[in-house]
Amino acid sequence: MTDKVTPRHIAFIMDGNGRWAKKRLLPRKAGHRQGVKALEKVVDACEKRGVEMVTFYAFSTENWARPQDEIDALFAMVAEFADTRLKEYVQRGLRILFIGDLTPLPQKTRDACTRIVEAAKGNKGMIVCIALNYGGRDEIVRAVRTLLQSGLKDVDVETLSDCMYTGGLPDPDVIVRSSGEKRLSNFMLWQAAYSEFVFRDELWPDFDEKIIDAVLEEYASRDRRYGSVKRLN
Ligand code: FPP
Repeated sequence: MTDKVTPRHIAFIMDGNGRWAKKRLLPRKAGHRQGVKALEKVVDACEKRGVEMVTFYAFSTENWARPQDEIDALFAMVAEFADTRLKEYVQRGLRILFIGDLTPLPQKTRDACTRIVEAAKGNKGMIVCIALNYGGRDEIVRAVRTLLQSGLKDVDVETLSDCMYTGGLPDPDVIVRSSGEKRLSNFMLWQAAYSEFVFRDELWPDFDEKIIDAVLEEYASRDRRYGSVKRLN
């Protein structure tokens, strides 16, 4: 059970893996590998604290501009993660969701993602959502295209929301970005309408349980008014 001030959904923009590696004279992929470890700590911490859904921005529609060996390493990590840690999450009852267009991903990665989503069906625990080849603008365009194809002549907020990858799921109450950068970078543009933003200076690979508690404390201190005048959470 979540209390009134525990966010239902926290979304993370995992930034700073490259800088973490550079500081240690390591290749960028070493930073991503450490980033996966941080992601695991964050999943455990959020589950323990009763969060219902966590989303991680792992690969954006713009990340294809990175060097090919970094892209290959990232997708290999995702496949390995799906076959190992995500399997363990499924065994402990967590739900798994991927958002984004998985079509251009390497076949091995896509298959691993499909298998794990299938295996998690029927689970009732926290949702672990991973954004892969995800872009907020792309998501909105796809949603509009779906509506056009359905022949609908009119649209409202609810109908469009239902056509997003996250249709039927809660919008992020809070979006957290690491590494001191303060922008959304095409992440959850539609869903972020009333999200709180927390910007942390720590690089993503340094994220841990203590930082999650600091984020939760910061969130609890915010006055969410949704355009109204009184606090609603
Ligand atoms: C941003 O840091 C990070 C990414 C674009 C990738 C994030 C991916 C992971 C943490 C691994 C995902 C894997 C799984 C299994 C979900 P950056 O590389 O842009 O860092 P920089 O700004 O310091 O260069």
